Amino acid sequence: MEHVIGIDVGTSGVKAIVVDANGAVLGEATSPLTIATPRPGWAEQHPDDWWKAACLSVAKAIQASGVPQSSFAAVGLSGQMHSSVFLDTQGLVVRPALLWCDGRTTKQCLQITKAVGAKGLRKWACNPALEGFTLPKVLWLKQHEPAAFRKVAKVILAKDYIRFKLTGTLATDPSDASATLMFDTVKRRWSEDILKAVGLKNSLTVDVVGSAETSGVVTAEAAALTGIPAGIPVAGGGADNACGAIGVGAIAPGEAVASWGTSGTVVAPTNKPVVDKGLRAHTFCHAVPDTWYVMGVMLAAGGAFGWFRDQCAKELAGVQDANLRLNDEAAAISPGADGLTFLPYLQGERTPHRDATARGAFIGLSLAHTRAHMSRAVLEGIAFGLCDSLAILQEMKLPVSRMLLTGGGAQSPFLRQLQADVYRLPVVRVNREEGPAFGAALLGAVCAGFFKNVPAACKATLQRLTPEMPNKKTSKALALPYKRFGSLYPALRGRF
Ligand code: XUL
Repeated sequence: MEHVIGIDVGTSGVKAIVVDANGAVLGEATSPLTIATPRPGWAEQHPDDWWKAACLSVAKAIQASGVPQSSFAAVGLSGQMHSSVFLDTQGLVVRPALLWCDGRTTKQCLQITKAVGAKGLRKWACNPALEGFTLPKVLWLKQHEPAAFRKVAKVILAKDYIRFKLTGTLATDPSDASATLMFDTVKRRWSEDILKAVGLKNSLTVDVVGSAETSGVVTAEAAALTGIPAGIPVAGGGADNACGAIGVGAIAPGEAVASWGTSGTVVAPTNKPVVDKGLRAHTFCHAVPDTWYVMGVMLAAGGAFGWFRDQCAKELAGVQDANLRLNDEAAAISPGADGLTFLPYLQGERTPHRDATARGAFIGLSLAHTRAHMSRAVLEGIAFGLCDSLAILQEMKLPVSRMLLTGGGAQSPFLRQLQADVYRLPVVRVNREEGPAFGAALLGAVCAGFFKNVPAACKATLQRLTPEMPNKKTSKALALPYKRFGSLYPALRGRF
């Protein structure tokens, strides 16, 4: 019994990895997912598509690893945060999930703020009501699809649906629960005050299990579909941003993590629930006991770059290194893209604008600009957006001595240097590139008893690579473009 499986339900795909007790990844597979956007600003996926993709990825990763079934000790789970899985009394999905980047619930957010009170939200949830969070989605369903709402017995999150299919157990963990807006983030338990104020029954919630504790065991039926042996434990797991932080060893104050997935986030761990005065950043429970984190979130980071690639570089469709080729094009253009600015708000924006109606824009286009300029402007726009989150964490006086990188932005030398130059901080990668799936696997490894706790698991399996330093000259050249970027949203607000 010396291997674990980590599963991450992302937005663009479900990844599964097979990891040994030293942290070596022996097998890996990702099955793609698509997002349905029935209207601009809306975003949905069907939980059964997550499950199908998970079964496929796990089976492929196990096969690729060549590891015998008898050596698996546990499974760890990670997944997109906030996305609402509505289950009926039979455990069937009532309708597709409203995703973390769905912006249809502005009205419900106002209702929640009125019912709970801004003070109560800050005290209990440590966050304001924002469209992406789970609670406004529940109220939207109640108001817009009452017949569907009447069927709902439980509301769970993406990774929790995979747990349910693997084990038959309905449960979540503190890191995902705290991102629902129905949880007391300080006390790490469901908030009866919030649920009562918005008129929802406590029975909609599920048990909260520690991230590295056993939540259930794999059933014979799930074993037949995935190849995971029946009877092994599935750990509580964690939110993808919490698992992504664990996956690079960010489990204590002092550093921050910049992650480029479909979303873009900057996460700074804290040893108490620190809340921004202006509620500009989120405060959630980490997937490590007695630890929290403050996070800024861009709704379209890799999502914006993927959109640009798919719409403006169609000849690269299906080309494996399409992203790197576009990075190379961008690298040939000087900082600031000769006056071209991209606002990455394709799906609205959370941090820092908290505006579901914001939209993307290229500003400053001229006949002199080429696609390479657009490529550069998109990548700079993403780095600038993340820097806005970093600036809030720094204003909150959270110590950030260097930025750990994970996801797409860690993979190319150009993007690492761009980030170092924009953040004006050393950037550091670790020896693993699997992000949240690796963090999930480590939670599984602690659950299996390979390590006594998460810090010990990180210490034994992760190594920091040599820091990459900001280039003073380029940082200086990017100062004005960043200022221009910052001036454009206020100028365009309300006109998107
Ligand atoms: C975090 C958020 C996104 C998703 C992406 O608040 O909404 O980062 O977790 O999966």
